Amino acid sequence: MAKKLLIAAPKNLAGTTRLIIDEAKKLFKVHYAPIKDITLTVSGNKTKIEHNFRDLTDADYFLPKVDAYRAYYGYQIVRAFDFYPEIPKPYSAGTIQIAHDKFLTTAILSSKKIPVPKTYLVKTKRGIRNIASKINFPIMIKLMNGSGGMGVMYVENQEAMSSIIESMNILKQEALVQEYIQNPGEDLRILVAGDEIIGSMKRIAAPGEKRANIKAGGKGVKYVPTKEVAEISFKSAQAVGAKLCAIDIIEGKDGPKVVEVNINPGIRGLTAATGINIAKKIAEYAHGECSR
Ligand SMILES: Nc1ncnc2c1ncn2[C@@H]1O[C@H](COP(=O)(O)OP(=O)(O)O)[C@@H](O)[C@H]1O
Ligand SMILES: [Mg+2]
Repeated sequence: MAKKLLIAAPKNLAGTTRLIIDEAKKLFKVHYAPIKDITLTVSGNKTKIEHNFRDLTDADYFLPKVDAYRAYYGYQIVRAFDFYPEIPKPYSAGTIQIAHDKFLTTAILSSKKIPVPKTYLVKTKRGIRNIASKINFPIMIKLMNGSGGMGVMYVENQEAMSSIIESMNILKQEALVQEYIQNPGEDLRILVAGDEIIGSMKRIAAPGEKRANIKAGGKGVKYVPTKEVAEISFKSAQAVGAKLCAIDIIEGKDGPKVVEVNINPGIRGLTAATGINIAKKIAEYAHGECSR
């Protein structure tokens, strides 16, 4: 009998999810449930997980696609599945909290001796000014849970910093201040699935742009990870507790540094850059996890 794959994702299906569903259908019986339409019921000593009254805990694999907007509800659903450890999934609920918090990610990676840029967390304008007085420019200012390069700002010097602080409302939320790792406007995107790297690319930022994200105009090109980059990628995935995730790495003069772990990575750019059917690889990975 075909294994059952449950995919929970935002209702407005992202291209990535669509690609994965299409490939998964070749291996699984796929049930797609919009995150917000899943209901949780605590009754007796159980948490029921349902979509339109259909029990979702008969899945053989659960693939959550939780984006930042749905992080809280997504967390609740993945947490409910944590009560069903027999259903394999790429990560437990705790990983959502880590991955949607760039500061926590950095702190956890660094505690596992994975190289990361020097990073500060600040809440007030005064906090940012205090840091600005002792840090070397340029720096990156990041919002905690942005993605696609949105919420990441390159700040060249003290002057630019002052005008950013004044002109922006970023301090309504916490901001992360990070040492800028000198690089030619490139980063590495490594997609880990279990003990394999199923795709990797170098992203080259658009002219004049410091962020290499595809969404910020970056261009993906073929890249084969060095042994060191591969090791750091596996260690990073393990540190945040994700079996399936994408690691963003910058190669500075002191070696590779990890800037982000993505548990909801887009795959279209990677598919184009590698010529590999990444969606198929993900479906195959999930299928392989079922029989365990
Ligand atoms: N500390 C840094 N030094 C140099 N470049 C950086 C640094 N942090 C981020 N970048 C660049 O900005 C991009 C976006 O940063 P990232 O933290 O991955 O946020 P996002 O979630 O928006 O992708 C990275 O892919 C990289 O090109
Ligand atoms: Mg990134």
